[in-house]
Amino acid sequence: MPFPDETVREAERLIKRYPLARSALLPLLHLVQSVEGYVSDEGIAFCAEMLALTKAEVGAVATFYTMFKREPFGEYLLSVCTNPTCQIAGGQEIYESYVEACGGHVDTDGAGVMVEHAECLGICDAAPVVQVNYENYGPVTRDEAMQLLEQAKAGEPPESNLSGHVPATFAHVERELSGIDDGVDEHLIEAARLQATTSPAPTFRTGETAVPVTHPGIDPSGHGGDAFRAASRIGVSPLRTRATEEDRALAEELSDELRGEAAQLAEHLTGDADQERAPSVEEQPELTDEQVATATGEPTEPTEEA
Ligand code: FES
Repeated sequence: MPFPDETVREAERLIKRYPLARSALLPLLHLVQSVEGYVSDEGIAFCAEMLALTKAEVGAVATFYTMFKREPFGEYLLSVCTNPTCQIAGGQEIYESYVEACGGHVDTDGAGVMVEHAECLGICDAAPVVQVNYENYGPVTRDEAMQLLEQAKAGEPPESNLSGHVPATFAHVERELSGIDDGVDEHLIEAARLQATTSPAPTFRTGETAVPVTHPGIDPSGHGGDAFRAASRIGVSPLRTRATEEDRALAEELSDELRGEAAQLAEHLTGDADQERAPSVEEQPELTDEQVATATGEPTEPTEEA
C-alpha cells in the first residue's frame, strides 16, 4: 500500500532523532505496523527508501524481531508465556488450545487475532500469563484464557486483572511503540537551543567522548542525538569534535532575548527555577595533567618526584 503523506512526515520526524538515519529502523517498522497492521513488502520498501537501506537489510531486521508481523491478522495479538514457570502452571495447554480454537496462529474472523509463544514476561508470580496486545493477564485458568480469546475475537477484551487497563488495538499500541507521539522531539529541540545559547560548548568534558556536550537543564545525550541535529540547524556544527573560534563567536552573538528564553525553557524543562546551569569552560576547574592524559590517551611528562 502507498503510505500517506502524514506517515512520510512522521517517518522523517523519527529519522531526525538519530545521528544515523538507519538507527530509526525499529521505530519506523513500528510506525509501518501502526498503519498496515503488519509489515508488508511495501512496508519494507518504504522503510528502505526512507532510510537509504536495501530492502534485504530492512527485511533481515523485520524477520529477526518477533514483534514485527509479516502477515495481516487484525486487532489483537495474544502472547502466551510458555517458559518453565508458566508452562508448569498450564501455559503450554493454553497455547495449544488457542491454536486449536483458531485453526492455526491467525484467525481473521471478527476483530482478528494472532496467537504466539512468549518468552518469560517477568511476572512469573502471576503464572500462567497471557498478554493481549502486551497487556498482562494472570494467573488465568484454561477456561478464563479461552474466554479471553473469545472476547478478543469479538473486539471486546476485558480490563487486565493486573493493571486494570483495557488493551488498546494493535495499531494503537504500535503507534505508541514507534515513539512518534512521545513529545521527545520538542524536548530535544529545546535542549539543543539551550545548549547553543547558554554557553559555548567545552572543548571536552570527560574522557568518555570527544564530542563537546553541555547539560543546561536537561541532558540531551542518550536520546538519539537530535540535539546535535537541532544544534546544526541553528548554526552550531554537531560534527566537529571541538568547538572552534567560529562556534564561540556565534554563541556570543546570540541575543539577550534568546538567552532569556533559554533560561525560561530551562526552568520549564527542569521544573526548578533554581537549577544550576552547567559551568562554562571558564568556570570549570583546571584539569590536572593526569586527567588530560586520561582524556586524550597521551602520556604525561614524568614529574620531578617520579
Ligand atoms: S515464566 Fe511466564 S512470566 Fe515468567
